[in-house]
Amino acid sequence: MITGKESKPNILNLVGSNADETIKKDGEYMATTTKALPAVVKEAKGIVFEDVDGNIFFDFTSGIGVANTGHSHPKVVEAIKKQAEKFIHFAGTDFYYDVQAELAKKLVEITPGNFGKKVYYGNSGAEAVEAAIKMARWSTKRKFFVAFVGAFHGRTMGSLSLTASKVIHKQRFFPWMPGVIHIPYPNPYRNPFGIDGYEEPDELVNAVIDYMRYIFNHLLPADEVAAIFVEPIQGEGGYVVPPKNFHKELYKVAHENGILFVDDEIQAGFGRTGKMWAIEHFDVIPDVITTAKAMASGIPISACVYPAANDFKVKGAHSTTFGGNPVACAASLATIDVLQNGLISNAEKQGKYMGKRLKEMEENYEIVGDARGIGLMQATEIVKNKESKEINPKARDEIINKAFYKGLLLLGCGDSSIRYIPPLLIDSEQLENALNLLEDAIKEVDTQMK
Ligand SMILES: Cc1ncc(COP(=O)(O)O)c(C=O)c1O
Repeated sequence: MITGKESKPNILNLVGSNADETIKKDGEYMATTTKALPAVVKEAKGIVFEDVDGNIFFDFTSGIGVANTGHSHPKVVEAIKKQAEKFIHFAGTDFYYDVQAELAKKLVEITPGNFGKKVYYGNSGAEAVEAAIKMARWSTKRKFFVAFVGAFHGRTMGSLSLTASKVIHKQRFFPWMPGVIHIPYPNPYRNPFGIDGYEEPDELVNAVIDYMRYIFNHLLPADEVAAIFVEPIQGEGGYVVPPKNFHKELYKVAHENGILFVDDEIQAGFGRTGKMWAIEHFDVIPDVITTAKAMASGIPISACVYPAANDFKVKGAHSTTFGGNPVACAASLATIDVLQNGLISNAEKQGKYMGKRLKEMEENYEIVGDARGIGLMQATEIVKNKESKEINPKARDEIINKAFYKGLLLLGCGDSSIRYIPPLLIDSEQLENALNLLEDAIKEVDTQMK
């Protein structure tokens, strides 16, 4: 039995016969998705999980940014149990129950901006994005959208049209939704303008904004654009933190042209960066926020929070059977409570230490080209060498693999990066030990590459 308080992973018997059985069954019956490593989970608590062969790991993926409160947080489990005993589903789109209205009220209160807002519930990130797309078209009567190269907003046909992080997401799926134009994201480490965005952040922001205006002058009438979709920090695209004033400048252009600013917080939000919403680091009040993943600590739910003035004004324009599921709403209220009572501040504190150690790794190892992130949303970009900055997905995968066999579960992102997103309740000793294991893996691969 694990407690979640274990200070170290413990690998005794890696990927034994029990794991193989599940992996084989999965391979035979399950659709091909994005399976990355042979981690077969038996139990998970806090930042710790035990596999079916008795090995103890640290989870530095949080189920892809979902388990921000840690796996099976007792307060969240209690809220789920309590609600499930009352009722599990009652079509909250067609009828009423208090817990979904209560969560909507809470989301309106905790999202930035003191204006009337409405909440639409979905069940996945992509559904929240679809809702934002439909709300924007419905309410503005405009047809077009702007998004960014490197963005990930989901895989349904509408959200996929905004996504531009990996070509594999789009291959063989055209036609997706027409009407989306992509602009380069201000990636300080590598961008098509050849600007060092760490040295010249304003120059990089100006290049992106000028490019956008150029597109508005020559290709896309700004007054026909319904919304700009942007991640406050790009997630799947590589954990890219834009320069500090980027979102402010983007917001200005949006508002000059009556365009809604949609802040996709699905990966970066819910306390991950040491604030409830990542956009709070950039002093912007977005018009619309999409959220999902960590919203209910793993019970599927998502939300699109948008200005009340932009609400669908007719019944039936948009809806879904499971939206606002009562068990998920109860789990989400408990999640917010747990986050606000210590975990967000812990993310800020532990994130500072993580950032310091990752920067040291950038200085000490040739293959670590860039270390970046805010709070407990951090990444390193793995390259062939610092000078060429050439991407090195082979070495990145090798590091992830080595770390796994040392007991640290990691996931890649972007072309050649590794993301570090442990649950926000990680303590200093667990973090120190995990970073030591990571550094061992990096050192081994760095030596191998020489
Ligand atoms: C920023 C962002 N938006 C949208 C999505 C899509 O969410 P889902 O996979 O729940 O559909 C993701 C998923 O990774 C994401 O990171």
